[in-house]
Amino acid sequence: MAEPKENVLMEKIVSLCKRRGFIFQSSEIYGGINGFWDYGPLGAELRRNIRDCWWNDMVRSRDDVVGLESSIIMHPKVWEASGHVAGFTDPMVDCKISKQRFRADQIFFSPVIVDGKTVGYVSALESDRTAEELQESAETFKRKKAIQGKLESVQPREFTEAKPEEIPLVPSPATGEPGSLTPPRAFNMMFQTYVGALRDESAIAYLRPETAQGMFADFKAVLDTGRVKIPFGIAQIGKSFRNEITPRNFIFRSREFEQMEMEFFISDEDDWQKWHRYWIDWCRDWLISIGLPASALSEYNHPQEKLAFYSKGTTDLMFRYPFGVQELWGIAARGDYDLSQHAKFSGTALAYFDEATKRRYVPHVIEPAVGVDRILLAILCSAYHEDQMPDEKGKMEPRDMLKLHPRVAPIKVAVLPLLKNKPNLVGKAQEVRDLLRKQMNVFYDDAGAIGRRYRRQDEAGTPFCVTVDFETFEGMKEGPMTGQTDTVTVRHRDDGRQERLSIGGLLPWLLERIR
Ligand code: GAP
Repeated sequence: MAEPKENVLMEKIVSLCKRRGFIFQSSEIYGGINGFWDYGPLGAELRRNIRDCWWNDMVRSRDDVVGLESSIIMHPKVWEASGHVAGFTDPMVDCKISKQRFRADQIFFSPVIVDGKTVGYVSALESDRTAEELQESAETFKRKKAIQGKLESVQPREFTEAKPEEIPLVPSPATGEPGSLTPPRAFNMMFQTYVGALRDESAIAYLRPETAQGMFADFKAVLDTGRVKIPFGIAQIGKSFRNEITPRNFIFRSREFEQMEMEFFISDEDDWQKWHRYWIDWCRDWLISIGLPASALSEYNHPQEKLAFYSKGTTDLMFRYPFGVQELWGIAARGDYDLSQHAKFSGTALAYFDEATKRRYVPHVIEPAVGVDRILLAILCSAYHEDQMPDEKGKMEPRDMLKLHPRVAPIKVAVLPLLKNKPNLVGKAQEVRDLLRKQMNVFYDDAGAIGRRYRRQDEAGTPFCVTVDFETFEGMKEGPMTGQTDTVTVRHRDDGRQERLSIGGLLPWLLERIR
C-alpha cells in the first residue's frame, strides 16, 4: 500500500530539519533519548525569533501585560495547591509482550459484530483515520477467520471505556494479538527530583509541568511592585517538563518543551466571555502575523462536560499538521481557582483591592497557553514548499524551500560576493555584511556557483540574498540606476525576482521587511 501523503511530507520536513541543522535528536551519539530534541544553529535562531515576536507583541507593545521569569523548581506545595500532585495524570496501558507503553485514551477499539453477534475485537491507535482503520481490521478479521454473515459497522470506543471483561479480548496495537494489554492506570506526568543532600520524602520537588503556576505564586509580588491595575496580565516564556507516556510526532509532543503563557487577571464582575473571545482572536491574529495561513487554523470548544470543574470554558486554536488537526494554543477561562487554591495552601491572601470601588476580591483569569515547539513545527509545516527554479543556464531544477515569514526566518539576509577570487568583490561584500549584521542575522557565503548558493538559502528560509557583482563597481549598464555605482542585486526567495538597490538604502529597506 502506498504510504499516506502526509507521512511523506512529515518525513521530508524531519529530513530537512536534520540536514540543515534546525532540529536534532537529543544525545544522538548515544542513540538518542525519546521525547527530547536539540535545536541546531538554524533552529535556535528560529526559536529565538518566535519567542522575541511573542514577547514583543504580548508584553513590550502593551500597557496591560508585564513579564516574569520564575524558577523551574518551585516549592512542592505549589503543585499540591494547583492539583498537579493529585491529578496531573494520563491513563497508561502496557503491552506485556512488546513492552510498549500507550496512553489509554489514544487506543481505540471496537467489537467485530457479525449477524448481531460479537465474534472478536479490533484496535487502532488514534489518528485521522481511526474509524476507517478499525473497519478495515474488522473486515480482515472476518475474512481470516472465514466467518460467514453480515459485518456491522464498527463502534469505536476509547480503551479507557473498556469493561474489565473486554480488556483481555482487545488486541494490542503493537502485536495485533489480544490478551497482553494491562488495564489502564493513572500515571503522574511530573518529573520528580530531590532538593538538597537528603533523598527522603521531605526533599521531593518537581520540574514544573507548566509555567503558569509561577504567575499565580508571584501574583502578590507583582501586584505589590509592578504598578499594575486590573485588568492586567503576567506573561512568561520558559521550559516545562512532562513525562509524556507517548511522546510523538517529532517535536509536537515532547518531554521537555517551552511554553509561552499569559495569565490575564480580570474583575470577578467583568464579562469573562468578552475577554475570552478577545484573547482567542488575539492569538489567532498573532499566529497569522508570523506567517501561519488562516486556512490551516480552526477553533475547538471543549465540551462543557469534559471541562475541569473550575473551568468556565476552554477553546483550542487547532492547526492542520501533516499528521492531523491538533491543538496548538489553548485559551482557558479558569475563574478564580488558581489564586484561591494558592491562598488556601499558602495562607497568604491573594486578593485585589480596587481603589475606585473600595472592593476587595479574588480576580478571575483568562489564560492563553502555547508551546514554542508546536508553533515552530506549524511554521515549518506550512513553510515547506517544493517547486522548480531555473539554474544559471535557464534549465528548470527542483528546489526545496521554506517560505518563512521574514519576522521569524533564522537568516534574514545572505550576502554573497559573485566570485570569491576577486578581492574587490569580497571586500565590498564583507563591508555590506558588517553594515547589516549589527541589526539582523546575516549569513556570508562565497562557496560555489551563485545559483547553488541561492538554493542553499531557499532551503534555510532566507527571504533575501544580496549579491555584490561587477556592476557594484562599474555602475549599472541599463535600467533606472544606469551609471550608478555601489549598488547590489537583491534576490527574493519566493519567486527568484531580482532588483537593484543602492548599498546606502539597503539597511532601511531590509529593516522595513523583517520587522
Ligand atoms: N497552563 C495550561 C497548560 O499548560 P496545556 O494545554 O497543558 O495547558 C499548553 O499546555 C500548551 O503547551 C499546549 O497548547 C501546547 O502548545 C503546549 N504543550 C503542552 N504539552 C506539550 C508537550 N508535551 N510537548 C510540546 N508542547 C506541549
